[in-house]
Amino acid sequence: MDNSMRERVAIVTGASNGIGKGIAEAFAAAGAKTVLVARSADKLTALQRSLEASGASALPVPCDVTSERDVARLFAEVRDKFGRVDVVVNNAGVASGTAIDELTLDAWNDVVSINLTAVFLMCREAVKAMKAQTPQGGRIINMGSVSAKTPRPDSIAYTATKHAIQGMTHQLTMDGRKYGVVASIIHPGATLSSFTSRRGRTQAGAGATPDDYVMSAADVARVAVLMATLPPEVNLYEATILPNQMRSFIGRG
Ligand SMILES: NC(=O)c1ccc[n+]([C@@H]2O[C@H](COP(=O)([O-])OP(=O)(O)OC[C@H]3O[C@@H](n4cnc5c(N)ncnc54)[C@H](OP(=O)(O)O)[C@@H]3O)[C@@H](O)[C@H]2O)c1
Repeated sequence: MDNSMRERVAIVTGASNGIGKGIAEAFAAAGAKTVLVARSADKLTALQRSLEASGASALPVPCDVTSERDVARLFAEVRDKFGRVDVVVNNAGVASGTAIDELTLDAWNDVVSINLTAVFLMCREAVKAMKAQTPQGGRIINMGSVSAKTPRPDSIAYTATKHAIQGMTHQLTMDGRKYGVVASIIHPGATLSSFTSRRGRTQAGAGATPDDYVMSAADVARVAVLMATLPPEVNLYEATILPNQMRSFIGRG
């Protein structure tokens, strides 16, 4: 344990799998009291057990982050248990790949609900909590995507929500200053998770071609730890982390 987040209380959404699980593991290893959030209670309990077995502190709070009531209950539980919240990572999200002419309004609304409205709900409660606590302030880290910069084909709902989170982070960075709330955004490229396993990748690392390299969640988690542990006056506002050979994102050859 490196203790860089010792005594800090951190909420991580989407902690049951993929990038969120990697961030929760890294925060717990850095000594944070880590609140594990997702809908799958069994996976959160399993993660809590494995973190506590290595001497870390974790609290599973099963929660649907699209539910205003669940999000309010989450922050109330964290306040009752720990008295404050220092870091909130809004990572829970879903992928969607459907051509615009085939995308139903229900499918659009599902993606907007989890990838955008849930982030708003979490940020609102985080700002309320961070504004009210003593000492005031904290950090909000939102999960964007390289799709906020360069979209994949047929991903209009996903791309639109990730662009919107970029705007939300910009706004929060400005509005949060008066309360010591610092907001940042991480834009990952291909990272091992259910996103990649659905495309046949179940292991991080090299693939069939150089372009097929898949990062581990631990790679992205290192950026989240860095963002979370900078001095409160300093913000690593935006970080794009991607496989170096991801030529579809950078370069033409
Ligand atoms: N993997 C990549 O290559 C990649 C690249 C760029 C950006 N991202 C972003 O990284 C984030 C994490 O994705 P991932 O790749 O790690 O995917 P993942 O393995 O599918 O994990 C998604 C997480 O979100 C949780 N979740 C989904 N809906 C939820 C809800 N309504 N309430 C609470 N939790 C919910 C899931 O848990 P439950 O099902 O248990 O609720 C799961 O823990 C997303 O925002 C994604 O857009 C991923």
